[in-house]
Amino acid sequence: MAAIWALRRSISLSQYLSTAKRSKKRLYIIYAALAVWPLAPLSAQRGNTGRDPHEVQTGSEVFNSICTICHGQEGNQVPGIDLAHGTFHFAKTDQDLIHIIRNGIPGTEMPANNMSEASAAAVVSYLHQMAADNADNTITNGNPDHGKALYQSLGCAKCHRMGEVGSRLGPDLTNIGNLRRSAVLERKLLDPAKDILPENRFVTVVTQSGRTITGRLMNQDTFTVLLMDPSETLLSFDRADLKQVTIEDKSTIMPSYQGKLSNQDVSDLVTYLKQQKGVPVQ
Ligand code: HEC
Ligand code: HEC
Repeated sequence: MAAIWALRRSISLSQYLSTAKRSKKRLYIIYAALAVWPLAPLSAQRGNTGRDPHEVQTGSEVFNSICTICHGQEGNQVPGIDLAHGTFHFAKTDQDLIHIIRNGIPGTEMPANNMSEASAAAVVSYLHQMAADNADNTITNGNPDHGKALYQSLGCAKCHRMGEVGSRLGPDLTNIGNLRRSAVLERKLLDPAKDILPENRFVTVVTQSGRTITGRLMNQDTFTVLLMDPSETLLSFDRADLKQVTIEDKSTIMPSYQGKLSNQDVSDLVTYLKQQKGVPVQ
């Protein structure tokens, strides 16, 4: 890889993909970089439950792999049961929840789950996280057609892709409805810098000659940093040629729509985003 990128060079993505066809290795690198975008799980570092973010993350993975089949991603798919707002029919304490998760509820469809106490406790931490996320959430069932119109008029496609339309600079939103809960999408629109997923981060590099470039971090290893600049051009740098490499984990180019959209507009946009359940085209 170091050899391929020996010289700092800049080419467009389509050029890259077409030259890449001649080189299996390059194709492999770019596809590996593209493949991590849409599939990455939500890292749930929300911080307002006082629970260990790693435990919450583990809980979210367990929840999304085995509980959503019946309860749905928002925890509200079993009629009469809501797992996402912190109040339960059959449980008062965390210990009650752990017991239910491991043993099921006899005589109902809630199955026993063969998992350790620690895993069940992680799921419970995630349930608390959902409740905390939902506490300040104002989303109602919105109008997806109006949401789509907003998506178009606000210029989201200048940075995002849906299907084959839009830019690759920001994360692909083709499958966002499967990946994120409404509360998380709402927060992204209103307070985008609060939670930036590691795989969505930008990087700023300063070259030895003093040039500063910011773009989406596509890949990095011991020797190279690969980024995509705002014109969707891929740039590869040898670390030896760089004075500074800064991963932007506290700032984002995603604009905040706080104060610019009504609660109804936000609901409409989130409802539209929640409908996006396609497979990204590459
Ligand atoms: C096969 C479907 C199914 C799966 C899988 C499932 N559940 Fe359930 N769960 C149910 C049903 C149905 C109920 C309601 C039982 C009843 O009261 O009739 C329920 C009830 C519950 C309750 C009680 C809610 C309350 O208000 O007291 C909790 C908590 C719960 N499930 C958590 C989970 C978690 C966490 C997982 C994943 C580890 C999970 N469930 C997996 C079907 C499922
Ligand atoms: C100027 C570019 C830009 C514009 C315009 C923009 N975004 Fe973003 N958006 C980004 C970037 C970059 C990220 C990734 C970093 C981050 O999370 O803030 C992002 C992140 C997101 C995410 C989180 C994706 C994930 O994986 O969870 C969503 C959802 C989103 N944007 C939706 C929108 C919507 C809807 C609009 C229009 C109302 C919009 N964005 C407008 C650049 C933009």
